[in-house]
Amino acid sequence: MLKLGVNIDHVATLRQARYRGREHGEPDPVEAARICEEAGAHGITCHLREDRRHIVDRDVWALRRSVRTRLNLEMANTPEIVGIALQVKPDIVCLVPERREEVTTEGGLDVVAQEAALAETRRRMNDAGIQVSLFIAPDPPQIEAAARVGAQFVELHTGRFAESFAHPEAREQELQRLIAGAEMAHQLGLRVNAGHGLNYENVRWLYRVPHLVELNIGHSIVSRAVFTGLAQAVRDMLAVMAGYPG
Ligand code: PXP
Repeated sequence: MLKLGVNIDHVATLRQARYRGREHGEPDPVEAARICEEAGAHGITCHLREDRRHIVDRDVWALRRSVRTRLNLEMANTPEIVGIALQVKPDIVCLVPERREEVTTEGGLDVVAQEAALAETRRRMNDAGIQVSLFIAPDPPQIEAAARVGAQFVELHTGRFAESFAHPEAREQELQRLIAGAEMAHQLGLRVNAGHGLNYENVRWLYRVPHLVELNIGHSIVSRAVFTGLAQAVRDMLAVMAGYPG
């Protein structure tokens, strides 16, 4: 069964819009995580960004205490955040590129260019009992480098697929890249997740991408939750994902 990791960053985005710099505020991402899990989500994902624009340190600690499924910490490979992750011990970290000026994570990691540094962090995380995923574009050199780094997972970046969705030719091209990327990663012994820009409509198209273990989805679920409530938004996504073969 294809698993759903719900990214709760945008619950914290809404809180920070009013309560930035305060020790409290609503909505509470920890309560959001509890509701997602109760509605059937298989994991909770959050991104502790260098600028703490949404998730802040106390959220990560509180999530570690409360999440009963799997906690996936998205993070840049920087000394500060690596140090925090090694203390918090999420179940898995997903290493992502991070630029301060971006609205959200825009591209995949350049694993080829940072192979030694990523291998070192991969080793330190694994030694602490934390699994490692690398967020990459579905490009063969990046997938090969991810395997050399020794990551347990790759998360294939579906942003370009999502952006091309209204254009059938480009969409098919991006889908073929994802299909080939998933196949290659699987053959190299990597487990395959995917995420970014996925929603209730475009997720159906990923039924054609083989070997998927988990999708990480945030924006579309939190957006729908404004109208339906979070539990229903999670159940709706799980219902669409139930069509994934295998
Ligand atoms: N996966 C990764 C690695 C991400 O950086 C993000 C965005 O934070 C997501 C998944 C979720 O993307 P979206 O909010 O577009 O569903």
